[in-house]
Amino acid sequence: MKVLVLGAGGFIGRHVCARLLEDGHAVVGCVRRVEPFRRMFPRAETEAVRLDHADGADAWRARLAGCDAVVNAAGVIGGGAVRAVHVEAVRELLEACAGAGVRRFVQISAISAKPEAGTDYAASKAEGDALVRASALEWIVLRPSLVYAESSYGGTSVLRALAACPAFTPLPGRGDQAFSPIHVEDLAEAVSRCLDGRIAPRQTLEPCGPRTMTLAEIVCAWRRWLGLPPARPLHVPMPLIRAIGAVADMLGGGPMGRNAIRQIEVGNAGDGTAFAQAAGFAPAAMETWLQRRPAHAPERWHARLMAVRPLLRGALAIGAIGTAAVLAMRAAGASIAGAWILVALAPALLLLIAIWRLIEDER
Ligand SMILES: NC(=O)c1ccc[n+]([C@@H]2O[C@H](COP(=O)([O-])OP(=O)(O)OC[C@H]3O[C@@H](n4cnc5c(N)ncnc54)[C@H](OP(=O)(O)O)[C@@H]3O)[C@@H](O)[C@H]2O)c1
Repeated sequence: MKVLVLGAGGFIGRHVCARLLEDGHAVVGCVRRVEPFRRMFPRAETEAVRLDHADGADAWRARLAGCDAVVNAAGVIGGGAVRAVHVEAVRELLEACAGAGVRRFVQISAISAKPEAGTDYAASKAEGDALVRASALEWIVLRPSLVYAESSYGGTSVLRALAACPAFTPLPGRGDQAFSPIHVEDLAEAVSRCLDGRIAPRQTLEPCGPRTMTLAEIVCAWRRWLGLPPARPLHVPMPLIRAIGAVADMLGGGPMGRNAIRQIEVGNAGDGTAFAQAAGFAPAAMETWLQRRPAHAPERWHARLMAVRPLLRGALAIGAIGTAAVLAMRAAGASIAGAWILVALAPALLLLIAIWRLIEDER
């Protein structure tokens, strides 16, 4: 089979591409950054595609030449391109599929794309899913709960950073937000089955792991996996978390933005047993996956660096501003320059200590 994958360079997209190539399919990866994808997947074809710049159904027809199926693993949690990526691009792609000989269409949506979320993310995801369902193709909509792997990106990196915090574990509110996490390789297994017909078309499934866990339980599981000692929870009030989300949106959004926080609040729990029955296989529990793939220093480094990254950036900024201020005051002949040197050096010292602690950890 020849399969066009949207969002092929993303977290889920990469794992799907790897699985499809392993299954013997030909893959056409649609990505924004062509060269890294080409180097990672030399056996795949690559198409440069910007989903927020509609280039029409004809452009899609050319990309779809010879393709039997499409997997849409593209998505964006917030920002100005949400509708273009989740709705307009899907509409044009479906229009092109109709005349291009494509039979199957696997849409990766999200279990939290519910109207009650009240976000443009959820609304546009639901609208895109409805377009897929209304098509004459052999469609399957997969709405996974939290998808995780040993590698992490976006939301899972944030969770891992919470898990790696020293002394205490910050949790949004009571940390009782529910998830039924599924490993990315189990999700890729589901996609593989959608393509070869073991999962029947024209149904919407919710890929979920066998256990529903609270956010606090997930963070504790990651902490144990990282080999770190238990830490006391620090319950951060939700209004403060939402305020952090507003600031994050001003700085570019992402997994800390308001949409991401709302999607966590609205709930990501589903029925893993129902999914296992429908899909013909049982995804493994998070603990099982984490035991299969023990963590090493790179995972701990990454988790800690995620947590200290804003501090490092802040320290660098204060250091640079402090240094500039010292130089300016010195030039002006001010006598308090010595104190400013301390202000400038203190962040650099913090930076050194943080890096020193990190590079001590080699296993
Ligand atoms: N990860 C989870 O836990 C989870 C759970 C449920 C549902 N989902 C859904 O699954 C889908 C994939 O998620 P993910 O975790 O793999 O996220 P991801 O790593 O951010 O991947 C999203 C992909 O979409 C692509 N994309 C976004 N905007 C684009 C644009 N304007 N033009 C072209 N490509 C664009 C990205 O391209 P670049 O590589 O160039 O950035 C990336 O490849 C999303 O729809 C998400 O909502 C994820």
